[in-house]
Amino acid sequence: MEQLGDIKSWRRYADEQRARGRDVALVPTMGALHDGHASLFRAAKQSGAVVIATLFVNPRQFGDAADLKAYPRTPHEDAVVAKENGVDCLVEPSLVEMWPDYPEATPTTVSVHGIGDVLEGAERPGHFDGVASVVTKLFSITGLCRAYFGEKDFQQVAVVRQMVRDLALPVQIVGCPIVRDPDGLAISSRNDLLSVEGRAQALALSRSLRSLSPADPASAQRRRLRDVLEAAGVEIAYAEIVEPTTFKACRDDESGPRRALVAGLVEGVRLIDNAPVTLVAQAH
Ligand code: PAF
Repeated sequence: MEQLGDIKSWRRYADEQRARGRDVALVPTMGALHDGHASLFRAAKQSGAVVIATLFVNPRQFGDAADLKAYPRTPHEDAVVAKENGVDCLVEPSLVEMWPDYPEATPTTVSVHGIGDVLEGAERPGHFDGVASVVTKLFSITGLCRAYFGEKDFQQVAVVRQMVRDLALPVQIVGCPIVRDPDGLAISSRNDLLSVEGRAQALALSRSLRSLSPADPASAQRRRLRDVLEAAGVEIAYAEIVEPTTFKACRDDESGPRRALVAGLVEGVRLIDNAPVTLVAQAH
């Protein structure tokens, strides 16, 4: 596995691969790699492409300095996980190359309105601007590629898809299924911050999604989510059913496949999860 740290050699590496006729796959990460990331690396590898993974803790997508400081950094372990799961080139760009003006504000920002303003966007102002800005830069350096994202961050994938469409970026977005522990908890680096009791409480997120019925209107589905979360004592941030491309909240006269998304605080740790759901319109 090649390891690079500067933008010039990263761009050259991707250009050389394409010149040799290889497809390029990009897996953007912030490190602290776990089985969810490993599944993205493996999916990218299985597609036959040369796999570039990036490891950059992007300060622009963190709301407060404490959250950024607390973010786990495990570069040595990350290199092992990347290598063992098929990454051909691991890039760890420096902060000064990625955001030369930091800690001053970067004058250029990519904003995806609508999808980026609700749920996670409303709860964490500026978060999706930070994500969209850094992902645009990662795409601009890598060039023509397929980019792999985990669907645990379902709204992030929708924001990135919209951005790629609107800016005609030469990138095909591949959303990959959520990886769960055997008990149902969606894998996240934040899970390590939970006590044994907290982890048991956190299972309410996936349980709430499993409680959804294949034959109810939106408001009844929302109530199911909230009931399970409240019974477990989870401090709910949101429990919503949305149209999966526009992220508009669903009404009771809608039928068909939609997405259920939940977010909440357990022991002060912010957790999210989501699942597909089918709505049946309320009979009048
Ligand atoms: O999902 C993440 O880890 C980050 O939001 C991403 C896509 C790497 C951008 O910093």
